[in-house]
Amino acid sequence: MNNIFIKSNRSASQLAVLGGKPVISSKMQRKEEDKRNKLTNDVIVGLRRGIPITQKMVDSVVATTKSGIWSRIQSSTGTVATFEKEWAEMLGVKYCVGTGAGTQALSAAVEAMGIGPGDEVITSPYTDIGTISAVLFSRALVVLADLDPESFQLDPDDVERRINENTRAIIPVHIGGQPANMERIMAIAKKHNLMVIEDACQAHFTEYQGKQLGTIGDLGCFSFQAGKNIGCGEGGAIIGNNEELMDKCYTVQNRGINRQGKAERIGPKYRMNEFEAALLLPQLENARDVFNYRNDNAWYMNSLLRQLPGVLPQKLYPGTGACSWWVFLTQYKKEHFNNVPRNVFLQALRAEGVSGSGYIADGFHRTDVITNHILDLDIYKNMYSPARLKQYREELPLPNCDKVTDEINISFGSVQMASSKDHLNKIFDAIVKVYENRDKLASL
Ligand SMILES: Cc1ncc(COP(=O)(O)O)c(C=O)c1O
Repeated sequence: MNNIFIKSNRSASQLAVLGGKPVISSKMQRKEEDKRNKLTNDVIVGLRRGIPITQKMVDSVVATTKSGIWSRIQSSTGTVATFEKEWAEMLGVKYCVGTGAGTQALSAAVEAMGIGPGDEVITSPYTDIGTISAVLFSRALVVLADLDPESFQLDPDDVERRINENTRAIIPVHIGGQPANMERIMAIAKKHNLMVIEDACQAHFTEYQGKQLGTIGDLGCFSFQAGKNIGCGEGGAIIGNNEELMDKCYTVQNRGINRQGKAERIGPKYRMNEFEAALLLPQLENARDVFNYRNDNAWYMNSLLRQLPGVLPQKLYPGTGACSWWVFLTQYKKEHFNNVPRNVFLQALRAEGVSGSGYIADGFHRTDVITNHILDLDIYKNMYSPARLKQYREELPLPNCDKVTDEINISFGSVQMASSKDHLNKIFDAIVKVYENRDKLASL
């Protein structure tokens, strides 16, 4: 698309951060929030994150309470079993196993693949800690690869460089809810005979090359944490088409006891409970409508942003279809804003009534979770040779990820895409206003 800059009618006005009038007043923000909270007809209470609370959800939890069936093991046709069936059907896979969180889904997936001490799993440093701890819980080495700085997704070339004889799996994280470069990652996995677990915790219903995310790898994992587009406080699911592997997932999350009641392996208790599924089931009825609304808005917002240099849409790979846009991410290019750092731009934008921030503050290669904690634990020193741990530390720097976290990435949060188009136009107006006044930013 051409970078044809549309001149804003706000160019003459003074930046709000310097005493001018904001593009979006607090009153306008409150009105928009009210609209967002009534996104579906049957909503009775709107949530900050955009999950509408409906009477059906309340009735469903009350019905579960009254039924006395509170655990999935009390009924093979209860809410958890029904949810698993419906979620699998909606995504077009054969099997689904519910869990108590996305982290638990990822952990059960790693464990079900038989990955353990001495093994290595490659994933993204730019993710929720759940991705990392799922690997560490099986006492495997979590190897972090660098990012494509335009998409914020795993760089397949760097993934391939980090494969060695102990590598067992790759966990691509679909960050923001948009697809990682699955075509390349699947090809690399095939070439090196590796398993793929998709971290689709943010990517409910996202499409890639005609498939739903979570259905492309060997296993796909979802989160239904309170803040997600579909949520129940804490919840998760694993999906897949391989019956044997999915049975292992069931067994792992059921304390090592298989569907026939036989102790088969070591496992934690990660079971989803009936109340969680009772809250999820009614959401599935309008989840597609909310998804379509958000997706339509996000592509619209991207088309606006493409008219302006300096705040580019998150790069999407060929084959990307409709996305969840759990977080709407953009690339800040300071060279188009008089070289002022991202935070100065965000300060000016916030004053105009648009909330934006860096998304993940630091990649996990720069946090204590791995560098100073895990690698110094006796158990890791026992499992991995001094030479491997030395090499691991030496290869920790991930310059593209650092650029993304420190300079480039801006998140406009998870609720903005549930706004009206009129509000999105105003957000764009505010960005344009800051752009047109970029020569004044240096004084902030
Ligand atoms: C990319 C990603 N992976 C894993 C998780 C972990 O999911 P949960 O919080 O449900 O354990 C999350 C949740 O925020 C996530 O966003």
